[in-house]
Amino acid sequence: MTKAVDERQPTLLARAEKIAGEFDLSPDDVRSITRHFVRQMKDGLAHERVWQLPSYVRRVPTGKEKGKFLAVDLGGSNCRICLVDLHGDSTFTVSQSKDSVPPEVTVNPSYRPLFDFVAHRIADFLKGNENPQCVQGLKDAEQHQTYNLGFTFSFTCEQTSLAGGRLIHWDKGWDIPDAVGRDPCRMLQEAIDHLGLPVIVSVLANDSVGTLLTRSYTSGPTASTLAAVILGTGTNAAYIERLSNVRRLGAEPISDQIMIINTEWGCFDDKMDVLPRTPFDDELDEASTDPGSQMLEKRVSGLYLGELLRLTILHLMQTNALAITCNPTSRIFERHSIDSSFLSELAKAGSDRAQTTIQLIKATLSAEGVTETDARGIQLLASAIARRAARLAGASLAAIIIQSGRLKMSTKGTEHTYTTDDDEQRPQLTSRSSMRSIHRFIHDATLLWRRLLRLVGMGSLIGKPPIPPLSETKSSVVFQEDIIDIGADGSLIEFYPMFEVEMRRAMRDVPEIGPTGDQRIRIGMAKDGSGVGAALIAQAASEMQGAIAI
Ligand code: BGC
Repeated sequence: MTKAVDERQPTLLARAEKIAGEFDLSPDDVRSITRHFVRQMKDGLAHERVWQLPSYVRRVPTGKEKGKFLAVDLGGSNCRICLVDLHGDSTFTVSQSKDSVPPEVTVNPSYRPLFDFVAHRIADFLKGNENPQCVQGLKDAEQHQTYNLGFTFSFTCEQTSLAGGRLIHWDKGWDIPDAVGRDPCRMLQEAIDHLGLPVIVSVLANDSVGTLLTRSYTSGPTASTLAAVILGTGTNAAYIERLSNVRRLGAEPISDQIMIINTEWGCFDDKMDVLPRTPFDDELDEASTDPGSQMLEKRVSGLYLGELLRLTILHLMQTNALAITCNPTSRIFERHSIDSSFLSELAKAGSDRAQTTIQLIKATLSAEGVTETDARGIQLLASAIARRAARLAGASLAAIIIQSGRLKMSTKGTEHTYTTDDDEQRPQLTSRSSMRSIHRFIHDATLLWRRLLRLVGMGSLIGKPPIPPLSETKSSVVFQEDIIDIGADGSLIEFYPMFEVEMRRAMRDVPEIGPTGDQRIRIGMAKDGSGVGAALIAQAASEMQGAIAI
């Protein structure tokens, strides 16, 4: 290390710490964000807004659904064509093809190239070019002659029914102006018809809604799944709301019915009343395809976290605090060229594997002269950006849980919970308090008895408790019926170490949730749930036929 570099290093850490501090979100910040989001959710349920969008899905799967369905999952980066076989026992198999969507069709004056691309992928899939197994699957399903297709479209869409809707705006950097205001199902159908394929686009679903349905299907009827969160290229969540609260639809206040709501939480607080803001957030937003829009998403999702890190590193380089030098073709000089996986890798390397971190930085940024202090500084920035994202996601999930009313359905007092009746497949109000009280009484008495035996030195007589709790944490017992189940999908929650831990810390900062509420929340992966979810909606639509609209 040269002397000049050496002298810069303490300053670098102080500067990196200062910038990292700008990304801090205090417990008070979390609380006011959650409160504001609950208000926004209520407002979106009552008035037509671009968030809290009704999905028209009015029941959740029980795990018993059966059949083969074709689905297209068009996300921010990939297009997947899937043949989903629902086995009727909470399991499924999927045969699929997956292609990256060419960038030139995602930013284009016309919608046709994008939908032609998707239609061609469907044609390839049907021909079985990609996967001979699919052909067999489709032959089995051929009694219908035409295939009903469920379309998962991961962009902000106002649905007008299960079968269609209107694109409100593009997100995740896509920009195809003449698609805005049109029905994605129709645009896809047009391209499919052009190729003469025997396919009818029969349902439209957001990926968050699809993920919620998949989680419910795989968890079975007793899991009481409440919501699903997507924390990948984009971010969003869907949850189960009482239909009587969805006043924007002018629905009759029928208390025992539900509707899944696509929150589109990525655009919560676009007015920036409570969201945190650093100069790097502003720079990112100004250079985006949709300034002033998706402000939460721009602080939380994978598409933006790498870019935020790039901007902070570049700032430290330009102000001469970082000692590294980068090749002119380095990604550090190119917008959106740093993937959020870089943040995950930096976190995995930790602070005690300096050489691994240095190598990672050199390889990712085509950089030279990376010192241990540089590596530490970059790690500090990356973890601050990711921690803020996780805490914001936690604050948002807390808002959903509060709005859903599930926390009030606790083991104390007389309470009711929404469950799905298998036969009717409609939610019913079910009182469970007395069963729970008996269960808890026996369990507590057993614990007391075991403690007494230990005290009098007869611990060897201790057997297993007669009623084992289904889920147990360090300090208390959580009964199955109290669990608030959340499905999750996306690279951030799957691969970023501590993402869920930080989300939970933030949720505990919200008094309505606190440590007790946190213990009731179970977050489980519903990987690639969006395609399967579209198949589940197609299955429901085929059963409900005309009875699906309000
Ligand atoms: C879109 C949502 C989508 C989310 C996750 C966001 O950009 O607005 O509709 O669910 O990304 O894919």
